[in-house]
Amino acid sequence: MSFQINTFEAYQEAYQKSLEDPKAFWGEIAEHFFWKRKWSNVLEYNFKDPDIRWFEGGKLNITENCLDRHIYNLGDKPAIIWEPNDPQEAHRVLTYKQLLAKVEQFAVVLKNNNIRKGDRVCIYLPMVPELVIATLACARIGAIHSVVFGGFSATSIADRINDAECKLVITSDGGFRGNKVLELKNIVDDALVQCKSVERVIVLTRSRTPVSMIKGRDVWWEDEIKNVETQGNPACPAEEMDSEDPLFILYTSGSTGTPKGVVHTTAGYMVYTGYTFSNVFQYQPNEVYFCTADIGWITGHSYIVYGPLSQGATSLMFEGIPTYPDAGRFWDIVEKHKVNILYTAPTAIRSLMAFGDEYVDNKDLSSIKKLGSVGEPINEEAWHWFSEKIGKGNAPIADTWWQTENGGILIAPMAGVSPTIPGYAMLPLPGVQPCLMDENGKEIEGNDVTGNLCIKFPWPGMLRTTWGDHERCQKTYFSTYENMYFTGDGCYRSKEGYYRITGRVDDVLNVSGHRIGTAEVENAINMHSDVVESAVVGYPHPVKGQGIYAYVIANHHRDEEGTKQDILKTVTRLIGAIAKPDIIQFVSDLPKTRSGKIMRRILRKIAEGDTSSFGDTSTLLDPSVVEKIVEGAEAQK
Ligand code: PRX
Repeated sequence: MSFQINTFEAYQEAYQKSLEDPKAFWGEIAEHFFWKRKWSNVLEYNFKDPDIRWFEGGKLNITENCLDRHIYNLGDKPAIIWEPNDPQEAHRVLTYKQLLAKVEQFAVVLKNNNIRKGDRVCIYLPMVPELVIATLACARIGAIHSVVFGGFSATSIADRINDAECKLVITSDGGFRGNKVLELKNIVDDALVQCKSVERVIVLTRSRTPVSMIKGRDVWWEDEIKNVETQGNPACPAEEMDSEDPLFILYTSGSTGTPKGVVHTTAGYMVYTGYTFSNVFQYQPNEVYFCTADIGWITGHSYIVYGPLSQGATSLMFEGIPTYPDAGRFWDIVEKHKVNILYTAPTAIRSLMAFGDEYVDNKDLSSIKKLGSVGEPINEEAWHWFSEKIGKGNAPIADTWWQTENGGILIAPMAGVSPTIPGYAMLPLPGVQPCLMDENGKEIEGNDVTGNLCIKFPWPGMLRTTWGDHERCQKTYFSTYENMYFTGDGCYRSKEGYYRITGRVDDVLNVSGHRIGTAEVENAINMHSDVVESAVVGYPHPVKGQGIYAYVIANHHRDEEGTKQDILKTVTRLIGAIAKPDIIQFVSDLPKTRSGKIMRRILRKIAEGDTSSFGDTSTLLDPSVVEKIVEGAEAQK
């Protein structure tokens, strides 16, 4: 018996049951996993502190659920198919049996390097199978992993390592992305100048980029594996974890300050990612599932690694980028590996669409049965292209809405089961209770309404805290509305009751599906010695979804273009290339209220190119500032 729901009526029934008796509902689902000891209480919670506990009393290890329990029936089934950056290089397949052996082996490496349950391990690797192996090896011994996306700078890595006090870093000499080589170990070396907690760095060989190996600190992955082989490859039984033991930390941007470490725990996260993976994608045995995300983001954690593997699926991971060697690469991969389910981001769809249909038309995409979209609102044009060109008009699209903090998908159609409408995430999954709130903290009832999206009731995959700063978790998510989790998104509920996410209502940007806080970018820009002040806003961008527009007050010690380039370099150094502004406009002043607050609303309108009306500007200290900025913006076009 599986927990997969295959009809819309069964969905409605499950949804109703999850409302009426959530404990019984999730308890039954949790029975489908392997527990060393069963839980004593399904749920205990309050949203005030917040204090959220799922499946308390349970003992388990998520890797036994992702690996060991499949060995008898699915041991020789591919768990991971890895497609390299360079199509000329051989792809790799790891069966469940092989993956388990490698995870146990690397778990012993971790132990040999003095890593124990509860220790934090930073993983900064390219998209190679060893990234999955390292992640699962941490979980095997109960170490808390903190995966950092390969596009982040040394400073960003250092901040994350220091915040979590990581003892170990796992990286590689380099990584391939398109025709670039990322010098990962060298970036780690720069980061570690600022990190006291790191005792050991394990370096995987990938690109043969020259690296400096520091005596007593740095060791090669391959040598460590040899050591374990000399030990006779001892088994590494899975550590017994409590349901609420932390599984991982993943840093994400908010509207203020530095990125926060979202903490996910073991049992709830496992149950939720497994349940949602199976249901949203309607995964069938022997299907090949390809999620194009990077494991450095939550989508990769939940829907390349944990969700698919706990369900015994074949998960395809891709090292490269969609446009290398050309814009047909995704479709080559689909054809080569006969991909049945493709889960990608609107930004990738829009970018590939722009290259023209000739990259798609000659590819055999007949294996595709189901499609998924994630990370940002999908515009209708991209939805239709995805549906018609890639799905050939008969593969349902699941537009999945969720967030790093959610652990798994919250609102989405179940592929082929629920109705779909372009641009709509449609209906909440069973167990998810969304609601719309107005500015005064009141729930907006009924349909055909718009409001701030909140969730009324806990779901097993939700965050429990932000690492080292519980108050920040409380303030960010649980203080805006009483007894609610606040998502930060705006949302429209249609006449039929379908949900359409309209975008962030706070100062968080979504650039190519990457989440970036405006305050973070401003802080980075302000670090440049010539910059006096800056304000960053988003604007609609045809491919990236949102672009970054920076208004900057600066003294020019170089020509304007030189200063611009220097600012871009500063942002790249401090955060990473993903946070580089698309447009920098130098201004002599920013529109501020008498109390000194920047009126971002006005700056957003100018960035959008809409200067017809700025609404009420009576609180502005100096209205002439706005005219000057508009003139500057027009001159820059
Ligand atoms: O604004 C929403 C947008 O991405 C935000 C979450 O970003 P992150 O934590 O990086 O997680 C992305 C992948 C799960 C949300 O607050 N977002 C995500 N999915 C969608 C979306 N907006 C519209 N439609 C979606 N399907």
